[in-house]
Amino acid sequence: MPTIGVIAGDGVGPEVVREALAVLEAVAGTEGFRYETVPFDLGGERYLKSGDVLPDHVLEDLRRCDAILLGAVGHPDVPPGVLEKGILLRLRFAFHQYVNLRPVRLYPGVETPIKGKGPADIDMVVVRENNEDLYVGAGGFTRKGTPEEVAIQTSINTRAGVERCLRFAFDLARSRGRSRPFRGLGAGDLQAGKIGLVTLVAKTNVLTFAHDLWMRAFTEVARDYPEVKTEYQHVDACCMRMVVGPERFDVIATTNMFGDIITDLGAVLQGGMGLAASGNLNPMRTAPSMFEPVHGSAPDIAGRGIANPLAAILSAAMLLDHLDVPRASERIRQAVARVLAAGTPRTPDLGGDANTADVGRAVLEALD
Ligand code: NAI
Ligand code: MG
Repeated sequence: MPTIGVIAGDGVGPEVVREALAVLEAVAGTEGFRYETVPFDLGGERYLKSGDVLPDHVLEDLRRCDAILLGAVGHPDVPPGVLEKGILLRLRFAFHQYVNLRPVRLYPGVETPIKGKGPADIDMVVVRENNEDLYVGAGGFTRKGTPEEVAIQTSINTRAGVERCLRFAFDLARSRGRSRPFRGLGAGDLQAGKIGLVTLVAKTNVLTFAHDLWMRAFTEVARDYPEVKTEYQHVDACCMRMVVGPERFDVIATTNMFGDIITDLGAVLQGGMGLAASGNLNPMRTAPSMFEPVHGSAPDIAGRGIANPLAAILSAAMLLDHLDVPRASERIRQAVARVLAAGTPRTPDLGGDANTADVGRAVLEALD
């Protein structure tokens, strides 16, 4: 029986994870999918009580799970970086979760701040490299605290690490295109047999070493996917185009740093942090993958029971995809779509006055 490790974490984490687990349980029951959940007490509270961030033996217990559902970590009384680096980044690296997958999809009934754009225009997936770049923690200080201080933070880009991320993006574009060719393709593209698009987002004009490697790998990998069209955009132009022409994107492949930034923009396009789901994937399945809403612990609204649980619920659906229970995940997405299309109940971030539990219950009731 598969085990799902649950790190509810801090702030709104436990509030939204509770709803996600209830939906998971309901949908699994009717699909005949049996699983076990194992709670892990990690996050700011534990750190403040015991000084533990992520003890090695807990990491090993997590490694034995088939997947992990995470709420959020981050605590106002803990210095920045301790929990984010010590838990999130450590798990992503230790479990070789080298893809951070972030779908950006606008559900009908949800308002996007982008004038004149609707659900037909906003349906892309960002494949963010998740194990390298500026996030590996390579660097240091010299002469710290003096006027001559030097701080260095190194971006690590390995050919193998970049290539496996790009291959994942091309595989994804191909499989999305097989169910329905990307709507942004022109007649000429379709005639040429194209079904999907991968846009590489980097900064080749300035980062002439690291992103030269990305570009060369991109060009070479693309040859193995003749049915996938390719495009390149500098990250600054990409930000602009995500706003003025989101319909131009199908699958975006990008670096850890740029992916972190553009997916917050993506979250806004799809209706806000309360709706953005993500998966940290180990596509080789040599260690568990981890699914989490894109948002953090939201200390400004924590404890009030008004956090939007939909991002966590949609992350649980991604978890089911990963565990190969695709019908269950699709049923969750359909239930979420029904609740959003109905217009109510909604949490305050979406303009409503419902609470977290109301929305969770509505999703349960909307399951077919
Ligand atoms: P945040 O995502 O927690 O909050 C940003 C804004 O979005 C806030 O106004 C918050 O109220 C709102 N928001 C977030 N989730 C929401 C939800 N489910 N429903 C309704 N509104 C929601 O980001 P912030 O404030 O920058 O970070 C807070 C803490 O979380 C920090 O300690 C940060 O390091 C940590 N963090 C953790 C992440 C993770 O565990 N994956 C990701 C991002 C931040
Ligand atoms: Mg971020």
